[in-house]
Amino acid sequence: MTPQGVTGELPPAVRLDGIGKSYGDHHVVRGLDLDIAAGEFFSLLGPSGCGKTTSLRMIGGFTDPTEGAVLLSGQDVTFLPPDKRDVNTVFQSYALFDHLTVADNVAFGLKRKGVRRAEIRERVAAMLERCQLDGLADRRPRTLSGGQRQRVALARALVNRPQVLLLDEPLAALDLKLRRRMQVELKQIQREVGITFVFVTHDQDEALTMSDRIAVMNEGSVEQCGTPEDVYEHPANAFVASFMGTSNLVPGTYRDGEITVDRGPALPVGNRPGIADGSRVSLSIRPEKIWLSDFEPGMALAAGVIRETVYSGATTTYLIELAPGITLSVLEQNTARSRMEDRWSGGERVEFGWKPEHCLVLG
Ligand SMILES: Nc1ncnc2c1ncn2[C@@H]1O[C@H](COP(=O)(O)OP(=O)(O)OP(=O)(O)O)[C@@H](O)[C@H]1O
Ligand SMILES: [Mg+2]
Repeated sequence: MTPQGVTGELPPAVRLDGIGKSYGDHHVVRGLDLDIAAGEFFSLLGPSGCGKTTSLRMIGGFTDPTEGAVLLSGQDVTFLPPDKRDVNTVFQSYALFDHLTVADNVAFGLKRKGVRRAEIRERVAAMLERCQLDGLADRRPRTLSGGQRQRVALARALVNRPQVLLLDEPLAALDLKLRRRMQVELKQIQREVGITFVFVTHDQDEALTMSDRIAVMNEGSVEQCGTPEDVYEHPANAFVASFMGTSNLVPGTYRDGEITVDRGPALPVGNRPGIADGSRVSLSIRPEKIWLSDFEPGMALAAGVIRETVYSGATTTYLIELAPGITLSVLEQNTARSRMEDRWSGGERVEFGWKPEHCLVLG
């Protein structure tokens, strides 16, 4: 696959060529092949322990791979130490120097490289401003809030103008509101400076909001790599479907374009040439892709009984029972036009509809 943005002439900013890591016979990362384009915001997303940090550390040079190669802009750096790679890392702990001021923390890398004083002063001031830290230049990190410390860590890495910036769950320590704000700010900064970001997170919403592309990892392997829309709308398998937010997985038997739930209704999903009649499958469909009213021509319809109505402010979730023990969740927006009294209540039998193209049939 050729990722977007990678042209014929320009080598990818990061290429992982069959990279793997084992500790004894524990395969922590297995044969990763990834191309990350220059300027891309690329996320490694997956559950705890799936190998995200290990993969990032191999790109940064902090962990030696047991197989494969790491290339940065076409150059094989597999066995180069971290300081010989044009890469900076923002660790989850931020690792700021508490005995130095904010400005000196940011200036640290440039001083070490021997950049001229005047230039350091200029670049640090510009970076503090970009990260909205002007005014805090003389403070010590321990006197700052979590979000401010996070921005210092970012400024300290960005000021070196690395080709690639590696970020390991940099927002994990922040509360939800600040985290949302930092997601937007971080994305903005990335766009302005045009540096390639490799961003590790286990938060699906965060990855969807910020990334140009996402690699969804599980047990050391990439299950799917694509744009946020790709992985959310067209998950490659049951793992990705359930990891990328709530999805319904309804078991049944496929025959002639329908999945029949045991002791339940037949759910039309359209013809699936790759799937043999009589196969046991799961139907995957997102709660927000199911309609409870205003059906359109060509939609598939079935019926069930409302078992639960969960009001969450902007949305209401209904649990519809299709057969004993098998429920489907349906999410409706509570818009200005929807009326409280039109909401369904428990025990009612309802018809629901969906478009077959929104269904995924998983073998
Ligand atoms: N130095 C090590 N020695 C042995 N096993 C290790 C070592 N480092 C990591 N592991 C194992 O490798 C696996 C992947 O770890 P890694 O830190 O890459 O996961 P992660 O995806 O970053 O998880 P989290 O979301 O919890 O940070 C884990 O099972 C971990 O226990
Ligand atoms: Mg980790």
